[in-house]
Amino acid sequence: MKKQFSRIFLSLFILLLTALTLAQRLPVPNMLDTASPNAREIAGLFWWVMGFSVFVLLVVVVFLGAAIIRGYRERNMTEEPPQIHGHLGLEITWTVLPLLILGVLLVLTIGSIYRLDGFASPKDALEVDVLGQQFWWEMSYPDEGIITANELVLPAGRPVKLNLSSKDVIHSFWVPQLAGKTDLVPGEPRTMWFTPEEEGIFYGQCAELCGASHANMRLRVLVLAPAEYDAWVAASKQPPAAPSETLALEGQQLFSSKGCVGCHAVNGLNTYNRTGPDLSYIGSRTTIAAGTLENNRENMVRWLRFTDTVKPGVLMPNLGLSQQEAEALAAYLEGLRLPGVDLEDMIGASSSDTRDDTETLETSYQGVNQ
Ligand code: CUA
Repeated sequence: MKKQFSRIFLSLFILLLTALTLAQRLPVPNMLDTASPNAREIAGLFWWVMGFSVFVLLVVVVFLGAAIIRGYRERNMTEEPPQIHGHLGLEITWTVLPLLILGVLLVLTIGSIYRLDGFASPKDALEVDVLGQQFWWEMSYPDEGIITANELVLPAGRPVKLNLSSKDVIHSFWVPQLAGKTDLVPGEPRTMWFTPEEEGIFYGQCAELCGASHANMRLRVLVLAPAEYDAWVAASKQPPAAPSETLALEGQQLFSSKGCVGCHAVNGLNTYNRTGPDLSYIGSRTTIAAGTLENNRENMVRWLRFTDTVKPGVLMPNLGLSQQEAEALAAYLEGLRLPGVDLEDMIGASSSDTRDDTETLETSYQGVNQ
């Protein structure tokens, strides 16, 4: 019996270690490595809470240590120690001290909420509507007439106001280096805002359990220099180049005949209907499958053929494509690019620290997709 227990314990321990090792390979954004005044506000609040917590911990440890030492020294004492039940001074101290600490935190928190809340968003903010779906993010820019998915492209230095809502269940938008979490609730639009200061890639994650692939509902915020952002906007209004090579042309036909057009739209081919991500410029995105896989042909083929293993619970059906069909489709999708704009180049050129980790990200998925 004892042996069995230790075996179970050992297995659990190994399982935990494996999970932690895998988790280590994913890009984990650090909420204290801030890239916006909004994230700094939250990090500042975190340090206040942390400071008071450490203070309380130290007080408890000091008194506990003193009691242990004293108890040990007086271990042979026979008479009853002094009773402190109903001691007025102590009662007042341990009532007033926590009240003071919580009072200070309350005032600081209310100040932060006021400065960060939607109603305080700047007037000149860029507006983006974010719609959560199982398991991806639709991003649309109403003033620019642009629709994209999973990668939010923003200009550095300009405040952005996000109108958050959901098509199905509750999701939560969280990009730790830029802002705190805000839930996306069906039928109850909410707003949040922040001002990205630094150019680069910032990782985000859905922060509300929304189904089997909640953990695979990632996103990226690509912050560009203002001139580059303008170039991205201009390119996003032109239709992508038509396919020319045979494989891509074959893929374009499959895109219609296999029914992809029923859910996905491509600028110049059909109209967007909010069912699946708009694929007009899928070739220009840095990732596919809601930020979980690096965007290359091999991964696209894998995603098209083993949809439900890559993202369990995904609504996109497995069409039972052959390797050849998937390769043709991937060739077509790869060619759907923003004319004259290379996002990866922009991010690479404009940021000393791209925080990019897609290669390790991909490695950790290999086990799942074989
Ligand atoms: Cu969407 Cu969790």
